[in-house]
Amino acid sequence: MIDHGFSRAMAAQIDRYFLPLIAIAGALAIFTAIRFYFVTWLGERVIADIRKAVFNHVIGLTPEFFEVTRTGEVLSRLTADTTLIQTVVGSSASVAMRNLVMLTGAFIMLFITSTKLTSLVLAIVIVVVLPLILFGRWIRTLSRKSQDRIADTSARASEVLNAVQTVQAFTHEDEERLQFGGAIENSFDAAVLRTRARAVMTAFAIAAVAFCIVGVFWIGAHDVTGGRMSPGLLMQFALYAVIFVTGMGALSETWGDVQRAAGAAERLHELINTKPAIAPPANPLTLAEPARGQIEFQDIVFHYPSRPDQAALNGLSMSVRPGEAVALVGPSGAGKSTIFQLLLRFYAPQSGAILFDGIDAADVDPAALRKHIALVAQDPVIFSGTIADNIRYGRPEANSTAVRRAAEAAAAAEFIEGLPMGYGTPIGERGINLSGGQRQRLAIARAILRDAPLLLLDEATSALDAENERLVQTGLTNLMAGRTTIVIAHRLATIQRLKRIVVMDHGRILAEGSHADLVSRGGLYARLADLQFNEAKALAS
Ligand SMILES: Nc1ncnc2c1ncn2[C@@H]1O[C@H](COP(=O)(O)OP(=O)(O)OP(=O)(O)O)[C@@H](O)[C@H]1O
Ligand SMILES: [Mg+2]
Repeated sequence: MIDHGFSRAMAAQIDRYFLPLIAIAGALAIFTAIRFYFVTWLGERVIADIRKAVFNHVIGLTPEFFEVTRTGEVLSRLTADTTLIQTVVGSSASVAMRNLVMLTGAFIMLFITSTKLTSLVLAIVIVVVLPLILFGRWIRTLSRKSQDRIADTSARASEVLNAVQTVQAFTHEDEERLQFGGAIENSFDAAVLRTRARAVMTAFAIAAVAFCIVGVFWIGAHDVTGGRMSPGLLMQFALYAVIFVTGMGALSETWGDVQRAAGAAERLHELINTKPAIAPPANPLTLAEPARGQIEFQDIVFHYPSRPDQAALNGLSMSVRPGEAVALVGPSGAGKSTIFQLLLRFYAPQSGAILFDGIDAADVDPAALRKHIALVAQDPVIFSGTIADNIRYGRPEANSTAVRRAAEAAAAAEFIEGLPMGYGTPIGERGINLSGGQRQRLAIARAILRDAPLLLLDEATSALDAENERLVQTGLTNLMAGRTTIVIAHRLATIQRLKRIVVMDHGRILAEGSHADLVSRGGLYARLADLQFNEAKALAS
């Protein structure tokens, strides 16, 4: 138009050029919608898969991992980091795709329009792109730092909010506000640093591209006045150049996004690549069904990974016959709960072996081994959900009669039926709206329902009043018949009648025998028994 003038003769030409333009506009609209749909779908799918993969992996990791990684941090990785990746895959990728197509198209048209000017552009673009890549690296490290700070704040918040009553009881709110505020400011600072880097990068990209365009047009303008190029061609070149430059600008911005996401992806990658400290053996042995529940500790030496020079168990040997009930007693920190941790294969001993039904526990898939164990932990964990859900945690397929019977054996039926909705009563996170003793009885009912050949009770009745304790003891005694049981107890009255009591201290076995035996022999047990039974009497008289 510019070269031929807006003359009447051009009317037919105009229609020839503009009609296809309408078609192109329609195609643009349709393809944009399709691109938007598929790319967003892809982003959502990628993130759903990543979230599942990370969770599936982390839930199988050993306690060792959780000793160093706070759960809040893992949660932040699962939410904040994956959201960042979603933004990139679901929106930046879509933008990048469009711009890549526009850019390539514009570039080809530029070449067709003027090879000389385009070659100039190309030379300058290469000079621009190299520094951009370097900038990208820098942004990636900064982004990782900023995501780490976000994870810190989440970890802190989740820890404190989980213990909000303790915080308030010790009037620690202001300190916690300060701490959290500090963590938030740190993450803000990290974000500012990252943004500054991106701002510099964007400025650089725009300046470089703009200088290059101005320079090229400078030369182009001289070509037109010198008659080496028509004004229409230069206008055409300008139009394509605008598309090209806009595309470059958008791409360099998404490049920054990609680098941010790469920082986040790095962290998730690390998380997924953390190997559990205890992996199932390559060729696991299978335990005989039904298991007999025979256990043997052979000269176990064990220290927790976080305390390499302090042995929690120090040359401990003990064997438990199938169906036998053994009590473990000893001062706090003696290593009693540690024995359970090893039996459950949460940790592996540094030397010695644990045999279950004559098979080394190290040769068995930990999950297969745990199927044979019912545990009442020292601090029972209750999940949000109904009472029945929590009991059924021991055996998900159990019917409601079985659930009820387990609750009765654990002396929990009475309080449960007193609740507004009975077994269907929802309980808050961590069983927050139950008393300590009620939580404990639910945990016992859960273990009863599990019906496993090996029963581990760690201070299972410590939070109960005398009457309920007696009721639970009766239930437990019935349960112990015919299965191997190891009971940890501080209150000797609860284990006094067991034939075999093992006394521990400093990760070693000091003595074992019946109550009468141990009392007559003197030593640690006699002293404990004296404190618990005789002093009580002395006080009473
Ligand atoms: N996860 C852990 N990491 C490092 N050390 C630990 C860990 N758990 C326990 N310990 C240490 O191991 C030793 C034995 O702990 P354990 O829990 O077995 O004692 P316990 O006999 O059950 O005591 P309590 O009667 O108080 O429950 C203690 O000194 C304790 O500090
Ligand atoms: Mg303990």
